[in-house]
Amino acid sequence: ELGGHAHYMLKEIREQPETVTDACRGRLIRAEGTAHFGGLNLSPRQLRRVRRVVFAACGTSWHAAMVGEYLIERLADLPVEVEYASEFRYRNAPLDDRTLVFVLSQSGETADTLGALREARRRGHPTLAIVNTVGSTIAREADGGIYLHAGPEVGVASTKAFSAQVVVLAMLALHLGRLRHLSFPDGMAVLEAIESVPALMGEVLKTEAKIDEAAALMTQARNALYLGRDIHFPVALEGALKLKEISYLHAEGYPTAEMKHGPIALVDRETPCVFVAPKGSLHAKTLSNVEEVKARHGTIIGVGTEGDEGLASLSDIFLPIPEAPEVIQPLLAVVPLQLLAYHVARRRGCDIDKPRNLAKSVTVE
Ligand code: F6R
Repeated sequence: ELGGHAHYMLKEIREQPETVTDACRGRLIRAEGTAHFGGLNLSPRQLRRVRRVVFAACGTSWHAAMVGEYLIERLADLPVEVEYASEFRYRNAPLDDRTLVFVLSQSGETADTLGALREARRRGHPTLAIVNTVGSTIAREADGGIYLHAGPEVGVASTKAFSAQVVVLAMLALHLGRLRHLSFPDGMAVLEAIESVPALMGEVLKTEAKIDEAAALMTQARNALYLGRDIHFPVALEGALKLKEISYLHAEGYPTAEMKHGPIALVDRETPCVFVAPKGSLHAKTLSNVEEVKARHGTIIGVGTEGDEGLASLSDIFLPIPEAPEVIQPLLAVVPLQLLAYHVARRRGCDIDKPRNLAKSVTVE
Protein backbone atom coordinates (compact mmCIF):
# COMPACT_ATOMS: atom_id res chain seq x y z
CA GLU A 1 0.00 0.00 0.00
CA LEU A 2 2.87 2.33 0.75
CA GLY A 3 4.19 1.80 -2.77
CA GLY A 4 7.84 2.17 -1.77
CA HIS A 5 7.37 5.23 0.47
CA ALA A 6 8.60 4.89 4.06
CA HIS A 7 5.44 6.35 5.60
CA TYR A 8 1.92 7.28 4.59
CA MET A 9 2.72 10.91 5.32
CA LEU A 10 5.56 10.85 2.79
CA LYS A 11 3.40 9.08 0.23
CA GLU A 12 0.65 11.64 0.71
CA ILE A 13 3.07 14.58 0.44
CA ARG A 14 4.46 13.16 -2.78
CA GLU A 15 1.06 12.51 -4.31
CA GLN A 16 -0.03 16.14 -4.05
CA PRO A 17 0.37 16.97 -7.76
CA GLU A 18 -2.26 14.29 -8.45
CA THR A 19 -4.36 15.47 -5.51
CA VAL A 20 -4.57 18.93 -7.03
CA THR A 21 -5.35 17.52 -10.48
CA ASP A 22 -8.16 15.42 -8.99
CA ALA A 23 -9.58 18.36 -7.02
CA CYS A 24 -9.72 20.47 -10.20
CA ARG A 25 -11.09 17.81 -12.53
CA GLY A 26 -14.14 19.09 -14.42
CA ARG A 27 -14.28 22.28 -12.40
CA LEU A 28 -12.26 24.77 -14.45
CA ILE A 29 -14.27 26.27 -17.31
CA ARG A 30 -11.88 27.80 -19.85
CA ALA A 31 -14.60 29.19 -22.09
CA GLU A 32 -15.78 31.41 -19.23
CA GLY A 33 -12.54 31.96 -17.35
CA THR A 34 -14.09 30.61 -14.18
CA ALA A 35 -14.59 27.56 -11.98
CA HIS A 36 -17.80 25.68 -11.43
CA PHE A 37 -19.00 23.33 -8.68
CA GLY A 38 -21.85 20.88 -9.05
CA GLY A 39 -22.96 20.63 -5.44
CA LEU A 40 -23.26 24.13 -4.03
CA ASN A 41 -27.04 24.03 -4.45
CA LEU A 42 -27.17 27.82 -4.68
CA SER A 43 -28.01 29.69 -7.88
CA PRO A 44 -25.71 32.41 -9.25
CA ARG A 45 -28.41 34.87 -8.18
CA GLN A 46 -28.33 33.58 -4.58
CA LEU A 47 -24.53 33.63 -4.53
CA ARG A 48 -24.44 37.18 -5.86
CA ARG A 49 -26.49 38.34 -2.88
CA VAL A 50 -23.82 37.11 -0.46
CA ARG A 51 -22.09 39.98 1.33
CA ARG A 52 -19.89 38.09 3.76
CA VAL A 53 -18.37 34.65 4.11
CA VAL A 54 -17.60 32.82 7.35
CA PHE A 55 -15.34 29.78 7.44
CA ALA A 56 -15.35 27.51 10.48
CA ALA A 57 -12.83 24.69 10.89
CA CYS A 58 -10.16 23.19 13.15
CA GLY A 59 -6.43 22.60 12.82
CA THR A 60 -5.02 22.28 9.33
CA SER A 61 -8.45 22.86 7.82
CA TRP A 62 -8.52 26.17 9.70
CA HIS A 63 -5.19 27.13 8.13
CA ALA A 64 -6.50 26.28 4.66
CA ALA A 65 -9.53 28.47 5.39
CA MET A 66 -7.19 31.35 6.24
CA VAL A 67 -5.52 31.02 2.85
CA GLY A 68 -9.07 31.07 1.47
CA GLU A 69 -9.72 34.33 3.28
CA TYR A 70 -6.84 36.04 1.49
CA LEU A 71 -7.92 34.56 -1.86
CA ILE A 72 -11.57 35.53 -1.58
CA GLU A 73 -10.74 39.04 -0.41
CA ARG A 74 -8.37 39.44 -3.32
CA LEU A 75 -10.37 37.83 -6.12
CA ALA A 76 -13.97 38.33 -5.02
CA ASP A 77 -13.72 41.48 -2.89
CA LEU A 78 -15.85 39.93 -0.15
CA PRO A 79 -15.19 40.18 3.58
CA VAL A 80 -14.28 36.82 5.07
CA GLU A 81 -13.95 35.69 8.65
CA VAL A 82 -12.19 32.53 9.68
CA GLU A 83 -13.35 31.03 12.95
CA TYR A 84 -12.17 28.15 15.07
CA ALA A 85 -15.22 25.88 14.98
CA SER A 86 -14.94 25.29 18.73
CA GLU A 87 -15.19 29.04 19.39
CA PHE A 88 -17.69 29.99 16.73
CA ARG A 89 -20.31 27.47 17.85
CA TYR A 90 -20.54 28.93 21.35
CA ARG A 91 -20.18 32.64 20.57
CA ASN A 92 -22.81 35.26 19.95
CA ALA A 93 -21.36 35.73 16.46
CA PRO A 94 -23.60 38.14 14.54
CA LEU A 95 -24.55 36.67 11.18
CA ASP A 96 -26.88 38.54 8.87
CA ASP A 97 -28.98 36.87 6.23
CA ARG A 98 -26.44 37.64 3.51
CA THR A 99 -23.68 35.71 5.22
CA LEU A 100 -22.65 32.40 3.73
CA VAL A 101 -21.23 29.88 6.19
CA PHE A 102 -18.76 27.22 5.12
CA VAL A 103 -17.30 24.51 7.30
CA LEU A 104 -14.12 22.74 6.21
CA SER A 105 -13.13 19.25 7.29
CA GLN A 106 -11.00 16.50 5.86
CA SER A 107 -12.70 13.74 7.85
CA GLY A 108 -16.18 15.24 7.89
CA GLU A 109 -16.50 13.97 11.46
CA THR A 110 -14.75 16.58 13.63
CA ALA A 111 -17.12 17.16 16.55
CA ASP A 112 -16.64 20.93 16.90
CA THR A 113 -16.87 21.51 13.15
CA LEU A 114 -20.09 19.50 13.04
CA GLY A 115 -21.31 21.55 16.02
CA ALA A 116 -20.56 24.79 14.15
CA LEU A 117 -22.45 23.51 11.10
CA ARG A 118 -25.48 22.58 13.20
CA GLU A 119 -25.49 25.92 15.01
CA ALA A 120 -25.35 27.88 11.74
CA ARG A 121 -28.11 25.77 10.20
CA ARG A 122 -30.26 26.13 13.28
CA ARG A 123 -30.03 29.88 12.79
CA GLY A 124 -31.27 29.49 9.25
CA HIS A 125 -28.06 30.10 7.32
CA PRO A 126 -27.30 28.30 4.12
CA THR A 127 -24.38 26.20 5.32
CA LEU A 128 -21.99 24.58 2.92
CA ALA A 129 -19.21 22.11 3.56
CA ILE A 130 -15.80 21.58 1.99
CA VAL A 131 -15.12 17.96 2.88
CA ASN A 132 -12.93 15.08 1.79
CA THR A 133 -14.74 12.04 3.13
CA VAL A 134 -17.73 11.20 0.95
CA GLY A 135 -20.88 10.44 2.93
CA SER A 136 -19.41 11.70 6.24
CA THR A 137 -21.71 13.29 8.80
CA ILE A 138 -20.76 16.85 7.84
CA ALA A 139 -21.19 16.10 4.14
CA ARG A 140 -24.63 14.65 4.79
CA GLU A 141 -25.89 17.44 7.02
CA ALA A 142 -24.69 20.42 4.95
CA ASP A 143 -27.04 22.14 2.50
CA GLY A 144 -24.46 21.69 -0.20
CA GLY A 145 -20.77 21.70 -0.69
CA ILE A 146 -17.61 20.76 -2.44
CA TYR A 147 -15.81 17.45 -2.19
CA LEU A 148 -12.01 17.49 -2.24
CA HIS A 149 -11.60 14.15 -4.07
CA ALA A 150 -8.21 13.75 -2.35
CA GLY A 151 -8.74 10.05 -1.64
CA PRO A 152 -8.22 8.58 1.84
CA GLU A 153 -5.66 10.40 3.96
CA VAL A 154 -4.03 7.90 6.31
CA GLY A 155 -1.16 9.84 7.92
CA VAL A 156 -2.43 11.58 11.03
CA ALA A 157 -0.70 14.80 10.01
CA SER A 158 -2.82 16.26 7.26
CA THR A 159 -0.95 17.15 4.06
CA LYS A 160 -2.68 16.41 0.80
CA ALA A 161 -6.07 17.41 2.24
CA PHE A 162 -4.62 20.88 2.91
CA SER A 163 -3.53 21.24 -0.71
CA ALA A 164 -6.89 20.02 -1.96
CA GLN A 165 -8.67 22.49 0.32
CA VAL A 166 -6.51 25.39 -0.80
CA VAL A 167 -6.99 24.68 -4.48
CA VAL A 168 -10.74 24.29 -3.98
CA LEU A 169 -10.75 27.64 -2.17
CA ALA A 170 -8.81 29.22 -5.03
CA MET A 171 -11.47 27.94 -7.42
CA LEU A 172 -14.21 29.16 -5.10
CA ALA A 173 -12.60 32.61 -4.97
CA LEU A 174 -12.44 32.59 -8.77
CA HIS A 175 -16.10 31.53 -9.00
CA LEU A 176 -17.25 34.24 -6.58
CA GLY A 177 -15.01 36.81 -8.24
CA ARG A 178 -16.40 36.07 -11.69
CA LEU A 179 -19.95 36.55 -10.32
CA ARG A 180 -18.85 40.03 -9.31
CA HIS A 181 -16.18 42.32 -10.70
CA LEU A 182 -13.43 39.96 -11.90
CA SER A 183 -12.99 40.29 -15.67
CA PHE A 184 -12.62 37.39 -18.10
CA PRO A 185 -8.88 38.01 -18.70
CA ASP A 186 -8.20 38.31 -14.97
CA GLY A 187 -10.24 35.17 -14.31
CA MET A 188 -8.40 33.38 -17.08
CA ALA A 189 -5.04 34.31 -15.55
CA VAL A 190 -6.12 32.76 -12.25
CA LEU A 191 -7.46 29.67 -14.03
CA GLU A 192 -4.16 29.20 -15.84
CA ALA A 193 -2.21 29.68 -12.64
CA ILE A 194 -4.31 26.95 -10.99
CA GLU A 195 -3.74 24.64 -13.96
CA SER A 196 0.01 25.08 -13.60
CA VAL A 197 0.10 23.92 -9.96
CA PRO A 198 0.62 20.14 -10.39
CA ALA A 199 3.72 20.54 -12.58
CA LEU A 200 5.18 23.23 -10.32
CA MET A 201 4.54 21.11 -7.22
CA GLY A 202 6.40 18.32 -8.98
CA GLU A 203 9.40 20.69 -9.27
CA VAL A 204 9.30 21.42 -5.54
CA LEU A 205 9.18 17.69 -4.72
CA LYS A 206 12.47 17.24 -6.58
CA THR A 207 14.23 19.39 -3.97
CA GLU A 208 13.65 16.90 -1.15
CA ALA A 209 17.38 16.23 -0.59
CA LYS A 210 17.97 19.93 0.08
CA ILE A 211 15.00 20.02 2.44
CA ASP A 212 16.50 17.10 4.34
CA GLU A 213 19.71 19.15 4.75
CA ALA A 214 17.62 21.89 6.34
CA ALA A 215 16.02 19.25 8.59
CA ALA A 216 19.49 18.29 9.80
CA LEU A 217 19.94 21.88 11.05
CA MET A 218 16.73 21.67 13.05
CA THR A 219 16.94 18.23 14.61
CA GLN A 220 18.64 19.41 17.82
CA ALA A 221 16.60 22.57 18.25
CA ARG A 222 14.03 23.01 20.99
CA ASN A 223 12.10 25.89 19.45
CA ALA A 224 11.49 27.05 15.93
CA LEU A 225 9.79 30.11 14.47
CA TYR A 226 7.89 30.07 11.20
CA LEU A 227 7.29 33.46 9.66
CA GLY A 228 5.24 34.54 6.67
CA ARG A 229 3.44 37.61 5.42
CA ASP A 230 0.07 38.04 3.79
CA ILE A 231 -1.07 34.84 2.08
CA HIS A 232 2.00 33.07 3.51
CA PHE A 233 1.13 33.77 7.12
CA PRO A 234 -1.29 30.80 7.25
CA VAL A 235 1.33 28.72 5.44
CA ALA A 236 3.78 29.55 8.24
CA LEU A 237 1.17 28.50 10.80
CA GLU A 238 0.69 25.22 8.96
CA GLY A 239 4.45 24.57 8.79
CA ALA A 240 4.74 25.13 12.54
CA LEU A 241 1.79 22.83 13.24
CA LYS A 242 3.29 20.04 11.13
CA LEU A 243 6.57 20.28 13.04
CA LYS A 244 4.86 20.23 16.45
CA GLU A 245 2.62 17.31 15.60
CA ILE A 246 5.14 14.82 14.33
CA SER A 247 8.56 15.89 15.65
CA TYR A 248 7.43 17.20 19.08
CA LEU A 249 9.59 20.30 18.67
CA HIS A 250 7.92 23.45 19.79
CA ALA A 251 7.24 25.80 16.91
CA GLU A 252 5.28 28.97 16.48
CA GLY A 253 3.95 30.55 13.36
CA TYR A 254 3.81 34.34 13.22
CA PRO A 255 3.20 37.10 10.71
CA THR A 256 6.74 38.08 9.72
CA ALA A 257 6.68 41.68 10.88
CA GLU A 258 4.87 40.83 14.11
CA MET A 259 7.96 38.94 15.24
CA LYS A 260 9.48 42.21 16.47
CA HIS A 261 6.67 42.55 18.99
CA GLY A 262 7.80 39.66 21.17
CA PRO A 263 8.95 36.41 19.59
CA ILE A 264 12.29 37.90 18.50
CA ALA A 265 13.28 37.58 22.16
CA LEU A 266 13.43 33.82 21.54
CA VAL A 267 15.97 34.10 18.74
CA ASP A 268 19.47 32.82 19.46
CA ARG A 269 21.94 30.44 17.82
CA GLU A 270 19.75 27.47 18.73
CA THR A 271 16.50 28.81 17.25
CA PRO A 272 15.86 28.08 13.61
CA CYS A 273 13.65 30.60 11.83
CA VAL A 274 11.85 29.45 8.74
CA PHE A 275 10.92 32.38 6.51
CA VAL A 276 8.20 31.64 4.00
CA ALA A 277 9.04 34.42 1.59
CA PRO A 278 8.45 33.86 -2.12
CA LYS A 279 8.80 37.03 -4.17
CA GLY A 280 5.82 39.33 -3.83
CA SER A 281 4.87 42.88 -3.11
CA LEU A 282 6.38 43.07 0.39
CA HIS A 283 9.58 41.23 -0.34
CA ALA A 284 11.99 44.07 0.50
CA LYS A 285 10.40 44.48 3.90
CA THR A 286 10.65 40.75 4.53
CA LEU A 287 14.36 40.77 3.73
CA SER A 288 14.95 43.40 6.38
CA ASN A 289 13.13 41.14 8.87
CA VAL A 290 15.42 38.29 7.87
CA GLU A 291 18.40 40.56 8.53
CA GLU A 292 17.14 41.24 12.05
CA VAL A 293 17.19 37.51 12.80
CA LYS A 294 20.59 37.15 11.17
CA ALA A 295 21.98 39.90 13.41
CA ARG A 296 20.93 37.76 16.39
CA HIS A 297 22.66 34.67 14.96
CA GLY A 298 19.46 32.69 14.39
CA THR A 299 19.64 29.85 11.88
CA ILE A 300 17.72 30.94 8.80
CA ILE A 301 15.87 28.62 6.50
CA GLY A 302 14.52 30.61 3.59
CA VAL A 303 11.69 29.29 1.45
CA GLY A 304 11.69 31.57 -1.56
CA THR A 305 11.51 32.02 -5.30
CA GLU A 306 14.15 30.21 -7.31
CA GLY A 307 16.96 32.64 -8.17
CA ASP A 308 16.23 35.03 -5.29
CA GLU A 309 19.83 35.90 -4.45
CA GLY A 310 18.78 38.35 -1.74
CA LEU A 311 17.02 35.75 0.39
CA ALA A 312 19.42 32.96 -0.57
CA SER A 313 22.45 34.92 0.60
CA LEU A 314 20.89 35.63 3.99
CA SER A 315 19.78 32.01 4.50
CA ASP A 316 21.78 29.17 6.03
CA ILE A 317 19.77 26.96 3.72
CA PHE A 318 17.65 28.25 0.89
CA LEU A 319 14.74 26.11 -0.28
CA PRO A 320 13.59 27.25 -3.72
CA ILE A 321 10.11 27.09 -5.17
CA PRO A 322 9.45 27.97 -8.83
CA GLU A 323 8.40 31.46 -9.83
CA ALA A 324 4.60 31.59 -9.77
CA PRO A 325 1.69 34.04 -9.38
CA GLU A 326 0.98 34.90 -5.74
CA VAL A 327 -2.43 33.21 -5.67
CA ILE A 328 -0.90 29.77 -6.09
CA GLN A 329 2.30 30.30 -4.10
CA PRO A 330 0.87 28.80 -0.87
CA LEU A 331 0.39 25.48 -2.68
CA LEU A 332 4.07 25.44 -3.57
CA ALA A 333 5.47 26.88 -0.35
CA VAL A 334 3.68 24.42 1.90
CA VAL A 335 5.42 21.43 0.32
CA PRO A 336 8.94 22.17 1.66
CA LEU A 337 7.42 22.80 5.09
CA GLN A 338 5.65 19.43 5.07
CA LEU A 339 8.84 17.67 4.00
CA LEU A 340 10.89 19.62 6.54
CA ALA A 341 8.63 18.44 9.40
CA TYR A 342 8.73 14.92 8.01
CA HIS A 343 12.53 14.75 7.85
CA VAL A 344 13.03 16.38 11.25
CA ALA A 345 10.66 13.81 12.76
CA ARG A 346 12.36 10.95 10.90
CA ARG A 347 15.78 12.08 12.09
CA ARG A 348 14.45 12.26 15.64
CA GLY A 349 13.07 8.72 15.37
CA CYS A 350 9.43 9.70 15.86
CA ASP A 351 6.43 7.58 14.94
CA ILE A 352 5.45 9.70 11.96
CA ASP A 353 2.15 8.19 10.88
CA LYS A 354 0.88 7.81 14.44
CA PRO A 355 2.13 10.74 16.51
CA ARG A 356 1.52 10.51 20.25
CA ASN A 357 -1.73 11.89 21.67
CA LEU A 358 -3.27 12.55 18.24
CA ALA A 359 -6.10 10.84 16.38
CA LYS A 360 -7.01 11.14 12.72
CA SER A 361 -10.46 12.34 13.46
CA VAL A 362 -11.31 14.27 16.61
CA THR A 363 -14.81 13.25 17.60
CA VAL A 364 -14.63 14.62 21.15
CA GLU A 365 -15.38 18.28 21.79
C1 F6R B 1 -3.27 18.50 11.48
C2 F6R B 1 -4.45 17.71 11.72
C3 F6R B 1 -5.56 18.30 12.54
C4 F6R B 1 -6.83 18.34 11.70
C5 F6R B 1 -8.02 18.81 12.54
C6 F6R B 1 -9.27 18.97 11.70
O1 F6R B 1 -2.32 17.80 10.75
O2 F6R B 1 -4.57 16.63 11.23
O3 F6R B 1 -5.22 19.57 13.02
O4 F6R B 1 -6.60 19.20 10.63
O5 F6R B 1 -8.25 17.88 13.57
O6 F6R B 1 -9.62 17.76 11.09
P1 F6R B 1 -10.68 17.68 9.93
O7 F6R B 1 -10.14 18.44 8.79
O8 F6R B 1 -10.84 16.22 9.66
O9 F6R B 1 -11.94 18.31 10.45
